[in-house]
Amino acid sequence: MEAFRHHVFVCSQQKPEGVTSCAAAGSARIFDTLNLELRKQGLDDDVQVTTCGCMGLCDHGPVMIVYPEGTWYRGVKTEDVAEIVESHLHSGRPVARLVWNDAPAMKAAALEHRDHVRAMMQARDRAGIMPDPLNDMIRGYMPSRAILTALELDLFTAVGNGGSPEVVAAKANANPRATEMLLNSLVSLKLLEKKDGVFSNTPLSSRYFVEGSKDNARGGLLHTAHIWHRWSTLTDCVRAGTSVSQRGSDSSWTEAFIAAMDRNAKERARHVVKAVAANGIRRILDLGGGSAAYSIAFVSELPGAHADILDLPDVVPLTRSYIGKAGLSGRITARAGSMLTDPFGENYDLVLLNAICHMFSEEQNRAIFQRACAALAPGGRLVVQDFILEADKTAPQFAALFSLNMLVGTQAGSSYSEPEYEQWMKAAGFAKVERVRLPGPSGLMIATR
Ligand SMILES: C[S@@+](CC[C@H](N)C(=O)[O-])C[C@H]1O[C@@H](n2cnc3c(N)ncnc32)[C@H](O)[C@@H]1O
Ligand code: FES
Repeated sequence: MEAFRHHVFVCSQQKPEGVTSCAAAGSARIFDTLNLELRKQGLDDDVQVTTCGCMGLCDHGPVMIVYPEGTWYRGVKTEDVAEIVESHLHSGRPVARLVWNDAPAMKAAALEHRDHVRAMMQARDRAGIMPDPLNDMIRGYMPSRAILTALELDLFTAVGNGGSPEVVAAKANANPRATEMLLNSLVSLKLLEKKDGVFSNTPLSSRYFVEGSKDNARGGLLHTAHIWHRWSTLTDCVRAGTSVSQRGSDSSWTEAFIAAMDRNAKERARHVVKAVAANGIRRILDLGGGSAAYSIAFVSELPGAHADILDLPDVVPLTRSYIGKAGLSGRITARAGSMLTDPFGENYDLVLLNAICHMFSEEQNRAIFQRACAALAPGGRLVVQDFILEADKTAPQFAALFSLNMLVGTQAGSSYSEPEYEQWMKAAGFAKVERVRLPGPSGLMIATR
């Protein structure tokens, strides 16, 4: 059964440099134009369009197949798309001049291409040329840097409902020639569209990057932009064994940091609450509570519970404003101080360390765990949420790379492994330690007093 009247597959396969492919022949343009044309001709509810991998006819790309008929089109150009939609998808008459149905010739072309690619790959290998995926990984900073610069300049807001490079550059206080280069690259990343020299936002960029949008994430993403600058000091950090940059101290740095933490926490808090919340929890201590996202999630789930947050003096005013916005000032208090030196209090049912331990050294974490144990009532639990490494510390990849994030940003922070947490928790006096895996990059270590 076909759910749609037609299902069109457009080959979007990329191939190594020097090998013909549908992607190199412009299939991305065909895909976009096809979707646009279907909307224009009112057929987008009847025709499903999907990208697909190589179909072997790479010397004749872009290739697309229309089902249920199984009609193959080759060498499709953007100017052919409207005709294919009108004639074939609307009226059932394939565009004969673009159809390829000579099965023996198609098979011969596919085999010839395959043999050519194999020979070429062997020749590249013999010549010692690096594989493309390795090259792509090395150049992975390019899209990231382009987007972060656009966010730093608030370029997506400057583009607004559409503008020429000159207009956008003037609004962003930037150079027009360079702005145009950046705008073009953002179109190539599908974060902007361009028509007749005018740039406009895509649904994705207008939702997440434009001032005034309810889901604008730019504030938190500026933290990633700040961190990017630190990552460029990685080589020096590896030599020195510690961060070589100053922590940003201005309020915009702190605001972006806490906004970024809030964005991460909003997604993760419900999983933590689900894994940890239980009847009988009355008093919660949230160390380094940041935007209070976890305290908010817990007290919302547990009627009668109260949370105390301890965070640094420059963060606490932000914490209070997040608590105020959630309407929970009566159930969550925020105290300014340092968890390394200030007293924790006592008789808590739960002590939370969400995204905290990676900031500190082993010695600092051991000391915090000991003091957390003392601050808990008997049977109370310490919950550590972090990017937890497997025992040999090489996986998961995110946790292993995040360790470097801590190297470039802290004096002695790191990602830590499950056996390390377990050992520190037991040494701190906890009776029981368990690991809870969460969906996503972070996990939990839960220690019961
Ligand atoms: C990575 S954020 C995590 C925030 C929050 N727990 C969350 O997961 O959304 C680290 C938090 O710890 C706070 N912090 C860092 N050093 C601290 C210290 N010595 N005492 C108290 N809080 C600290 C930071 O201000 C920040 O709010
Ligand atoms: S890359 Fe499209 S058919 Fe091979």
